[in-house]
Amino acid sequence: MAADSTAVPPNIRQEVAQLRTELAVHNQRYYVLDEPLISDTQYDQLFRRLVDLETAYPALRDPASPTQKVGAPPLAAFTQVRHTVPMLSLANVVSREEMQEFHQRLQRALDTTDGIEYVAEPKIDGVAVELVYENGILTVGSTRGDGVTGEDVTANLKTVRSIPLTLLSQPAQPRPRRLEVRGEVFLPKAAFRRLNDTRAQTGAPLFANPRNATAGSLKQLDSSITAGRPLDFFCYGVGQIEGSPFASYWELRQAFTGWGLKPVPLGRVCPTVEEVFALCDALETRRDRLAYDIDGVVIKVNSFALQAQLGQISRAPRWATAYKFPALQATTAVLNIVPQVGRIGTLTPVAELAPVHIGGVTVTSASLHNMDEIKRKDIRIGDTVIVERAGDVIPYVVKTIPEKRTGEERAFHMPTQCPACGARVEREEGEAAYRCTGLACPAQLKESLKFFAARGFMDIDGLGEKIIDQLVDKNLVQDPSDLYHLTAEQLATLDRLGEKSAHNLVTALERSKTTTLPRFLAALGIRHVGEATARQLAAHFGGLERIMQAEEEALQDVPDIGPEVARSVAAFFGQERNRAVIRKLLDAGVHFPQIEARPAGRLRGQTFVLTGSLASLTRPEAKQRLEALGAKVTASVSKKTDYVVAGIDPGAKRDKAEKLGVPILSEQELLEKLQS
Ligand code: IVH
Repeated sequence: MAADSTAVPPNIRQEVAQLRTELAVHNQRYYVLDEPLISDTQYDQLFRRLVDLETAYPALRDPASPTQKVGAPPLAAFTQVRHTVPMLSLANVVSREEMQEFHQRLQRALDTTDGIEYVAEPKIDGVAVELVYENGILTVGSTRGDGVTGEDVTANLKTVRSIPLTLLSQPAQPRPRRLEVRGEVFLPKAAFRRLNDTRAQTGAPLFANPRNATAGSLKQLDSSITAGRPLDFFCYGVGQIEGSPFASYWELRQAFTGWGLKPVPLGRVCPTVEEVFALCDALETRRDRLAYDIDGVVIKVNSFALQAQLGQISRAPRWATAYKFPALQATTAVLNIVPQVGRIGTLTPVAELAPVHIGGVTVTSASLHNMDEIKRKDIRIGDTVIVERAGDVIPYVVKTIPEKRTGEERAFHMPTQCPACGARVEREEGEAAYRCTGLACPAQLKESLKFFAARGFMDIDGLGEKIIDQLVDKNLVQDPSDLYHLTAEQLATLDRLGEKSAHNLVTALERSKTTTLPRFLAALGIRHVGEATARQLAAHFGGLERIMQAEEEALQDVPDIGPEVARSVAAFFGQERNRAVIRKLLDAGVHFPQIEARPAGRLRGQTFVLTGSLASLTRPEAKQRLEALGAKVTASVSKKTDYVVAGIDPGAKRDKAEKLGVPILSEQELLEKLQS
């Protein structure tokens, strides 16, 4: 074999260069865009040829060669996508009269006095996108952009759980060769609140509403950030559709369901305008209770033939309109700003507002989240502000109106002592939040008790805010376990609580003792541990004792638990005070069944990294089979990796595994794991 550079024939040199360029392109397609152009076997052949040549001609070795590195960096920028059919906008109406006019206009255009069948459905307040499916496979996903050209956000859209990568095919309803699905990506309200809570704690700027959070999430160049946000998707239309057998929008909606897509919920066929009105009223009333933001109702002519006949005017279809709900905004005055002490001692500045009606609700206060947010928006006591209530999201101050200032306004400063217990207030490094350091702060205790008793946690019926306040103020309760020693006589001495209610409360307390491990864990109010995380912890460890003893490292092995949550859990159980309260709760009779740890999937909780090519199956197949057994398959090797599977010509990942002492499996060993 040739050994020095002078001995490398020019054609080999050229072939190596060519292979490197090609492999780099395929790496990008596979890892970044997730759109491979060639099969895994073809890729492996190219890769192996390059390895062979580099082995034969060491002079050609290069640290930048694809053989030295697997994977590709995040995108540097989004590319533009031209929509085959422009994505139009919608005209809108704001009253019943205008809706009647819309209907009459259509009657005139269609030269009829008969009724027109409409479909009415919620107008989802999210971000419009288009998904292109070719032969049932999602190839490109893009934003609406200016309607003609949008941005290619395929990698981000693929992380949305309700966007299928492959359409289901039903015998009665074949998949079109090409299907351009249009719809709205959105962040459910609860997820939005959680996202902003976390951002408030870390000092990151808050998103004004779920729509902005959605737009921000779709604009991430690193799709793993998008993947961490529970975005959702509803569809409401199509661009190009090859071989469309549908006569109406309603039929298309049904086809969406058959393909595994979700049409906009709560839609209805309305044979008359009166029924459209009825649905608008019903949705306006239900608006607050929906899990996602809607800002109106879209009314569309059902028949595609009639839609075609009506056509479009400028950039909007003539066959549809949006009935917009009134804005949930109002102008009012900030009377005062007061800090409120939360469950974990966080001081949240709250604006007391001159009462104002917004969408049928009287608003008297708004959370200002944290000091950074107050500074960013420059909100002062005495300011005139615009307040918005987005769905059931807590009202917030959109902005101040500085032109209305008189000079009497005052800036708000965070107190240095807790307004509830007088303990020192501290701001943790790297955090936006100020926290009361008092261990026996009554405000913190009250909030913890409210949390503990809430529905979904310990579920103590009848233990409301007013009663909790009195129990703490009268020193009858110093920690949650004291609740279980209260007698009906003690309770009957409280205001607002008669003998009968006192008795009922004792019964409710008794009943709450029978619970489940996840509910109990969530009720403790450990920072960052909500219901979902509590369930994960319980499923992973099986029992409370094991969770309490788990070290940070072990906690990080639980699915979805990262370093921050692990630290918080370990710190909570590390405090003797918390352990004592838990002991007292169990002594008082709180109990829950053990959970069988790691139920679904034999390989649950184990993380695998694949490197090199496998002889008997492709990497995507191996990944799929591992995941089917509950394992996680990640791209890079770390201390958290349980196994590295090294196939033929493994890359640098194998070396890294060796360095970190991560067990390395051969293909044969992998197959055994998959089978046993
Ligand atoms: S139908 C020709 N249906 O509203 C456009 N649009 O203001 C047909 N939207 O760009 C759109 N929910 O992003 C339709 N149920 C729904 C919708 C909906 C939200 C958005 C869409 C559109 C915008 C127009």
